[in-house]
Amino acid sequence: MKTLMLNGSPRADHGNTQLFIDHFQSGLTTPLPVRYLLRENPTTLALAMKEYDTILLVMPLYIHAMPGLVMKLFEELKPQSSHHQKIGFIVQAGFIESATARYLENYLSALAHRLNYTYLGTVIKGDAAACSILPHFFFGRLFKQLKALGVAYEKTGSFDPLLVKKLGNPVYLSKFQVRLLESRLVSRLNQVGWNWILKRNGCFENRYDRPFL
Ligand SMILES: Cc1cc2nc3c(=O)[nH]c(=O)nc-3n(C[C@H](O)[C@H](O)[C@H](O)COP(=O)(O)O)c2cc1C
Repeated sequence: MKTLMLNGSPRADHGNTQLFIDHFQSGLTTPLPVRYLLRENPTTLALAMKEYDTILLVMPLYIHAMPGLVMKLFEELKPQSSHHQKIGFIVQAGFIESATARYLENYLSALAHRLNYTYLGTVIKGDAAACSILPHFFFGRLFKQLKALGVAYEKTGSFDPLLVKKLGNPVYLSKFQVRLLESRLVSRLNQVGWNWILKRNGCFENRYDRPFL
């Protein structure tokens, strides 16, 4: 089984998508080749994809959808004449509820079927924005689950449904969790983190800018 992993993040190997790929790969005995949409011509990459049995595309959720780089690649894909190739997706996002990626999941599933790929499914993981910012021990459980996903993939050539379910939790937050997040203490703590990032990037003073108004 020849699999190609694609990194669909505009941050390429510096972002959270790369961490997802690294931890998935840590569960494999033989590492899979990885190509970066940021660094490739979409037409050439679409041609190169034909050399593989399976494509695993890992991407961040941007504005409830896919990054533009991923869209550009999709526009280059042509329907296959038979169901010989498989495709699966891993979408990681900032918001906690995996329901925020359901629209994209529906699109990915429809696209796979229209292009005659066998659809392996979409793994969705929310609450991943800080993966590459906070110390890694905060994400120990997530990284273990991604490794297990890799182990299972190497054995079966598919995503383990139980792990997909675990990673997708919570689909929605409970009312209690929403109240907790809305509390002053939690939103203040959250603000401290984001303000630190804004300052580090030299744009703290411009945080209320509205350039499109
Ligand atoms: C421009 C932009 C738009 C985003 N939109 C969403 C969104 O709609 N929903 C969400 O849950 N997270 C959103 N996020 C958060 C990213 O999905 C999250 O930080 C992800 O881990 C980034 O992965 P990367 O480091 O590989 O780019 C957005 C981030 C950026 C930069």
